[in-house]
Amino acid sequence: MRVLLGVSGSVSCYRAADIARDLMRAGHDVRVCLTDSAAKFVSPILFETLTENPCLTDTFEEPITGQMAHIDWAREADAILIAPCTANTTSRLAHGVAADMLTTIVVASTAPLLIAPAMNPSMYASDQVQWALSILESRAATIITPQEGDVASGEVGLGKLAPNPEILEAVESVLARTQLLAGKHIVVTSGPTEEPIDDVRFLTNRSSGKMGAAVARAALLMGARVTVIAGPQAAALPLTATVHPVKTADQMLEKALEVSEDADWIIGVAAVADYRPEAATSGKFRRSEDALTLRLIPNPDIIATLAAARPKARVIAFAAEPDADISVAREKIVKKGVFAIAANDISRNDIGFGSENNELTLIRANGEPQFSGKRSKLSAALWLLENLAQE
Ligand SMILES: Cc1cc2nc3c(=O)[nH]c(=O)nc-3n(C[C@H](O)[C@H](O)[C@H](O)COP(=O)(O)O)c2cc1C
Repeated sequence: MRVLLGVSGSVSCYRAADIARDLMRAGHDVRVCLTDSAAKFVSPILFETLTENPCLTDTFEEPITGQMAHIDWAREADAILIAPCTANTTSRLAHGVAADMLTTIVVASTAPLLIAPAMNPSMYASDQVQWALSILESRAATIITPQEGDVASGEVGLGKLAPNPEILEAVESVLARTQLLAGKHIVVTSGPTEEPIDDVRFLTNRSSGKMGAAVARAALLMGARVTVIAGPQAAALPLTATVHPVKTADQMLEKALEVSEDADWIIGVAAVADYRPEAATSGKFRRSEDALTLRLIPNPDIIATLAAARPKARVIAFAAEPDADISVAREKIVKKGVFAIAANDISRNDIGFGSENNELTLIRANGEPQFSGKRSKLSAALWLLENLAQE
């Protein structure tokens, strides 16, 4: 595989040469990009000699005339590792600032990103760096935690570049992850549904669509082709997924049946309205002083219908449970005919609806449940798909 090694201006730049060699020994083609500050510590010639590839620093110096190296290198990387990653480069990446060749390549690339921070312990502990790392983590970057030790300033603390074997192991596991769902078609339902009362009013629910977007992103990162049937959700969906916007539960089911014929997995993340008004009034009904009775009828059970219609697909349902009791979720597995249920406890306000985080319990028909622990929605989605893909 091809690994792009980004090196930024830390004293631990000297270790990047060994990291490049280790990656090559593991069979990877390594391309190195230095920031201007890194080039003050180590010379591009060192990496060119080691990797037998050009080493880039300047955004405007093209190794091949007429081609844009920042786009080619971004596209051709299977993973991007930044080791060492300075406070400056970490913060730039969190903001999407494309200020030099390295950050421009990262912004232009869809390859998984690994960050190995290296800096003075006070810098590492600063709000700015911790905020930047949490933003990058929520966008699927793998953060390789620095080690405790003596740093160049003579201080001892957390900030020393992680040991090389740990960095190598992280790269290998991220590269392996990109293959876990390669060749698979994953269909995801996402977001809320809207059930019309009349032409201006509707019944809906609190789903933001963030978890559905995270599942779609995670499946893409694992190499799948992804189709999303999305209700009117607030969260942006990845552009590399095929997205079918729908409004009602009926439309969601119809579209899901249409696109899932060759689906390997179907993941029901959408919060589908269980009921809809029996008859939607056309136009707008007028306010009056009389009480109004709205008769609701049940919507189709989308995930159970899909499980019955697509017996070859692995069907996974998300279940919003009002408490941590998993017995109801387990009953749903049998009732809906699904492979597994990812339950989250909506009684907590620090996870679930609208929040950036989630905590999933993965429940199968048999065996012990597995707990993700509280993490970002993207990290929870990766955890879920990795667990399921390894079966
Ligand atoms: C001797 C020296 C050592 C440095 N070591 C680090 C370091 O380990 N980590 C860090 O974040 N910044 C370190 N810096 C500061 C960065 O080099 C500086 O913030 C620079 O702007 C980073 O640019 P870059 O992110 O584009 O490489 C060091 C600076 C000097 C002069």
